[in-house]
Amino acid sequence: MLDLLIRNATLPDGRTSMALAVRDGKIVDVKEGLDAPAHETVDATGYLLSPHFVDPHFHMDATLSYGLPRVNESGTLLEGIALWGELKPTLKADALIARALTYCDWAVAKGLLAIRSHVDTSDASLLAVDALLDVKKQVAPYIDLQLVAFPQDGALRSKGCVENLKRALDKGVEVVGGIPHFERTMAEGAASVKLLCEIAAERGLLVDMHCDESDDPLSRHIETLAFEAQRLGLQGRVNGSHCTSMHSMDNYYVSKLLPLIAESGVSVVANPLINITLQGRHDSYPKRRGMTRVPELMAAGVNVAFGHDCVMDPWYSLGSGDMLEVAHMGLHVAQMTSQKGMRQCFDAVTVNAARVMHLKGYGLEVGCDASFVLLQARDPVEAIRLRANRLKVWKTGRLIAQTPPVLAQLSLPGRPSVCSFMSQAASPSAGL
Ligand code: FE2
Repeated sequence: MLDLLIRNATLPDGRTSMALAVRDGKIVDVKEGLDAPAHETVDATGYLLSPHFVDPHFHMDATLSYGLPRVNESGTLLEGIALWGELKPTLKADALIARALTYCDWAVAKGLLAIRSHVDTSDASLLAVDALLDVKKQVAPYIDLQLVAFPQDGALRSKGCVENLKRALDKGVEVVGGIPHFERTMAEGAASVKLLCEIAAERGLLVDMHCDESDDPLSRHIETLAFEAQRLGLQGRVNGSHCTSMHSMDNYYVSKLLPLIAESGVSVVANPLINITLQGRHDSYPKRRGMTRVPELMAAGVNVAFGHDCVMDPWYSLGSGDMLEVAHMGLHVAQMTSQKGMRQCFDAVTVNAARVMHLKGYGLEVGCDASFVLLQARDPVEAIRLRANRLKVWKTGRLIAQTPPVLAQLSLPGRPSVCSFMSQAASPSAGL
């Protein structure tokens, strides 16, 4: 007897009329037209069943703090960092935990069940670290929360920052972060990359650095990061976040850089919502888009994912934990409008992001965790177009969130009474 059988689902790879069988929290069979006795059977009515969404880049210590103590007037990264510096001394653990838990509720409702969050380790008190370790424990039954030790004030620029980062790792933070473009000089930035990668190698940890979050085409710390990943045998274990300077780099240099990144096994996370708003602020017109070269990186064989980065904090005033909104923005900024490109943007917030986080048991194959989301859309492109409703969200076979189907009631002469916001072709029945 199965615990759960989901029938008549469409999968992201295009297979239709698929059934997924679940027992003890795992997928035990995936087959077209499968029918078997189960404690619960769900008819997906042709809608898209996807592995849950994954956010590979977030800042949960700052989330939902918008307006505390004031808002970012210039909209720049640097004012955001300064504003966070004003907020930090006033942070209280209980309030930070409450905000993070609220965000995690939003995330679950949106089918977002794995988040890599940077946590600021600059401050000797490590208040945010202790708070997010507490949150990690509290949300563990439903969200994989992976923490990155992030020396926001600059590992070398700020006194005691490296020691504080190491203390955060000792407490159980599992990924080594960095911010080389915020160090005092390019040389110090490169030195920080080397030092932090060595710390990760010694401790057997993953690396995820904010890297070249700048419009400066000469900010080339991604080159050092790729070099260090190879030198230290960290291939496949290192991620460069943002890499926005690549947007402005000379094409000849990029033609050399892309194969170096691919060779080193370094993955890249772009943060479309944040990159399009924070970058280009010093430009008049034309204003640069400021997102890294996503399709070119993908074509070079680099694993590229999209992150949300910020929701209602010193850097970004909007957001709701919706990774389809992230994919939607990424698709536009990168002009990935072909069918292939749009599907790659869906992958960037699901399978590619899971690869960045080294998630185990992720996917829709037999043996994977039964952690998935049923979307009110028939394929990944429609899901992005509609930022589709999350009809049902399961974590290891347990239903943890559901939202009624979206249908607008119309009162227009000579028109249908219901508008389903689906494509022009016939839509699946809304029988869920
Ligand atoms: Fe970030």
